[in-house]
Amino acid sequence: MLHRLLRLALPVAAGIALLAAVTAEFGFAREAAGLGLLALAIALAAGHLRLDKLERRMAAVARQGRQRGAEQERLAALLDRNRDVVRRQGERVRREIQGVRRHLDQLPSDTAYLQRLVAQTADPSAPLPALGGWAATARSILSIVDEIQKAPGPVTVLDCGSGSSTVLDALLLKQRGAGGRVYALEADPGFAEETRGYLRAHGADEHAVVIDAPLTDVTLPDGSTAPWYDLAQLPDVGEIDVLFVDGPIGTIAELARYPAFPLLADRLADGALVVVDDTNRPDEKEIVRRWLTEEYAGRRLTQPRNHGRATLLRVVREG
Ligand SMILES: C[S@@+](CC[C@H](N)C(=O)[O-])C[C@H]1O[C@@H](n2cnc3c(N)ncnc32)[C@H](O)[C@@H]1O
Repeated sequence: MLHRLLRLALPVAAGIALLAAVTAEFGFAREAAGLGLLALAIALAAGHLRLDKLERRMAAVARQGRQRGAEQERLAALLDRNRDVVRRQGERVRREIQGVRRHLDQLPSDTAYLQRLVAQTADPSAPLPALGGWAATARSILSIVDEIQKAPGPVTVLDCGSGSSTVLDALLLKQRGAGGRVYALEADPGFAEETRGYLRAHGADEHAVVIDAPLTDVTLPDGSTAPWYDLAQLPDVGEIDVLFVDGPIGTIAELARYPAFPLLADRLADGALVVVDDTNRPDEKEIVRRWLTEEYAGRRLTQPRNHGRATLLRVVREG
């Protein structure tokens, strides 16, 4: 409506001005002046209204501009965050590829060493548990084998999780003849029996004991509880020279293998080797990171050596 009035206002003012001119021509000066003023007033009012409208439109444009600016800033921040996430994910994938490449590089020589170990220690007619998949990585087993071979006397090994590691370590202890034993905590009675079967088949059952250790809620030194092996059946094994952390299965809880160091620290010999398997996984990485900052029963873990899927640590007894 206002728009239409505004469009008419100027022609109407012009018409009145023309009428004023004609009126003046005929000598009606007063009427002409009145009409002239009326035309002027209409023109001024129309101009004022137009100016008003123009101002409102400019204010709306400025408001839209500000809104667009804020929207653009929000989009730019979102883009920055996404760029960061993509960069971090790219970095993680790159590290994982590097780990897999390192693992593949090591695999031929690790396999050759394991074959030699099996050829030297195992009964060729008896079955062996498969390596890979659920079992320990070759690098972990070879690190333990190396430790046993270098030891001058008996070696006590504790496996968290029984299987190929238990059997191969027992075969090596048997062949060395320098004493020592592998103790393996096993939460699954079926796997415990399977491992015992392999040990018997190779005549190595005197060199390893598979302990039925069902998962139970254990209390950690900080008072928290977590599902972990029930240590009630673990006999007094003396000082542990090698602790192999390869169980329980990671799906039972977050940081499922964390309790190993806090709960077994008091049994670890000074200089003992702790091997953590699967350290290519975030949980195991975090467990190692935490252990390196902690001390239990006067023991700390030092000298981390990262072999990708396996990480080696040394026990240092304080004082
Ligand atoms: C990672 S496994 C490794 C055990 C052992 N250190 C080895 O070298 O084979 C840890 C635990 O997973 C369970 N386990 C082993 N093989 C399994 C399978 N095929 N399926 C489900 N659980 C398995 C057993 O309870 C075992 O103690």
